[in-house]
Amino acid sequence: MHNFKVLMAQIRQYKRSTILTPVFTLLEVLMEILIPYITAALIDQGIEAGNMDRVLHFGGIMLIMAFASLFFGIMSGTFAADASSGFAANLRKTMYGNIQTFSFSNIDKYSTAGLITRMTTDVTNIQNAFMMIIRIAVRAPLMMIISLVMCIMINPNVSVVFLIAIAVLGVVLFGIIGKATTAFRQTFRKYDNLNASIEENVSAIRVVKAFVREDYEDNKFTKAATDLYNRFVRAEKLVVMNMPVMMLVVDFCIVAISWMGAHYIVAGTMTTGELTSLLSYVMNVLFSLMMLSMIFVMITMSAASAQRISEVIEEQPDIVNPENPVMTVRDGSIDFVDVDFAYKRRNVSYDKDGNEVITEEAVSKERSEETLHDITLHIHSGETIGIIGGTGSGKSSMVSLISRLYDVTNGSVSVGGVDVRNYDLDTLRNEVSVVLQQNVLFSGTIMDNLKWGNENATLEDCKEACRLACADEFIDRFPDGYETRITQGGTNVSGGQKQRLCIARALMKKPKVLILDDSTSACDTATDAKIRRAFATKIPGTTKLIIAQRISSVADADRVIILDNGTINAFDTPDNLLKTNKIYAEIYESQQQGSGDFDEAALAD
Ligand SMILES: Nc1ncnc2c1ncn2[C@@H]1O[C@H](COP(=O)(O)OP(=O)(O)OP(=O)(O)O)[C@@H](O)[C@H]1O
Ligand SMILES: [Mg+2]
Repeated sequence: MHNFKVLMAQIRQYKRSTILTPVFTLLEVLMEILIPYITAALIDQGIEAGNMDRVLHFGGIMLIMAFASLFFGIMSGTFAADASSGFAANLRKTMYGNIQTFSFSNIDKYSTAGLITRMTTDVTNIQNAFMMIIRIAVRAPLMMIISLVMCIMINPNVSVVFLIAIAVLGVVLFGIIGKATTAFRQTFRKYDNLNASIEENVSAIRVVKAFVREDYEDNKFTKAATDLYNRFVRAEKLVVMNMPVMMLVVDFCIVAISWMGAHYIVAGTMTTGELTSLLSYVMNVLFSLMMLSMIFVMITMSAASAQRISEVIEEQPDIVNPENPVMTVRDGSIDFVDVDFAYKRRNVSYDKDGNEVITEEAVSKERSEETLHDITLHIHSGETIGIIGGTGSGKSSMVSLISRLYDVTNGSVSVGGVDVRNYDLDTLRNEVSVVLQQNVLFSGTIMDNLKWGNENATLEDCKEACRLACADEFIDRFPDGYETRITQGGTNVSGGQKQRLCIARALMKKPKVLILDDSTSACDTATDAKIRRAFATKIPGTTKLIIAQRISSVADADRVIILDNGTINAFDTPDNLLKTNKIYAEIYESQQQGSGDFDEAALAD
């Protein structure tokens, strides 16, 4: 129930349409209800009595009412479309807006594919259910009650027949629906899985092809699709049972009422017209009952979607601005004091109705689960720091704490002498520019992508950043230069070109701290060295943290951090490390052996 409340709050400017829909539906129903009543009068007073004037009179009224009913129907349909599409748009906007405030760990919790499914399939489910509810949830009970009253007014004795019919039909319909709802709910869960697998595979299609796994993925998908097909058929089969059952009951009613009615007409206590209108009212009542049962399916089916949407709307970003944020970063010095860090553990379970429940476990205090342990270090403003360590040793995790992509579990991280948790987030992230290990370019021109780092930048600023990142040489070779279009995901530039564009983009902010997470791994060593030389001479005041796999990338750093299994193994100048540190010396040795690198000569000059 709470979930529906959260959703309803998103109707906002579409309240008018949401209310007008049932109002026009009401008018439409009134017309439809009165028509059989007029028909009765037309038959009894006109046809039976042979009075042509009365026939024309009532015929005219019926025509007007039919048109009025058409008009009201169109109006209610229009408003329903407006209300439900608007509602869906609001839901999407609110979700999207909230997702933008998510921290990295909020995103970890849902996964990207999960968020996309929630914003598409789930919203569509809710939109359809909402449309149906505002139109039919009013129409069906209204139709049913008024028709019932009309029937009883015409002939209470005959009405008993279909009161029994309603009871029988009600039990049968809701029995079927109860079963169908369970079937549908299971089906929808499969649907989510299918969606997630489509999103993952289509976006990773290049990897799939590179590994020649098309057949495997294809089989996996076919299996999932077939499974979904079977489940849908099972669920729909139950729902379509509604119609024949309903028709059977209707036919029984018609026979019973005709039989009784014939007796009454012969006895003179009922007119032919009354019998005809009675029969149409009976149809109305039974159809409404069927509609109601369908709405019941819709609501229960959309409950899961409602829950998934309201989760996203209500998710609180766990990294937010402090109350009185510090708005300036003094310098690029960085301090870690007794820092421990662990990623939150994400648990997916299913409640008794089969709905997905995601919970995050409190960060464990166990050392074995910590990604970083007991890190203390001081980096001076303007220093160039190399960071090396085996894969999974926590390099990326460590630097993500500096721009507060994640918060520490214990201890504190400071930039410019102020705890990062006291800064205004935008200020901090503008001054601490990170080139992430998995970086992306956006579709648009190179210029668009660079301006993404700083929207007020001029062409000259962009060119300057590209010179620093050694991106100018290849951009100048493109026929369209800075107006060259980048395709989605940056697939039309090489790996090394993409990395250099990402570095240039990070430089656009003119940050006090620049962090490169394995950002030149795809560049040849000569280019790598050229970029570092440019940094040393052109932006000497900026603190530079360079994570690298190659020793040569950190050999000219002021100091080097060696991370080992989440702890600092050593933090010293490269020369000292070479003499005293076993890990450093070993990596150095092993990489020296591969010194047949074709551009080693270029590096030497
Ligand atoms: N978002 C995340 N959620 C949970 N665990 C994570 C997450 N990111 C990293 N980890 C875990 O944290 C540990 C350290 O990962 P990290 O990415 O910091 O290593 P790294 O030193 O940067 O490695 P690489 O050299 O391969 O980039 C790994 O064991 C990894 O499984
Ligand atoms: Mg990493």
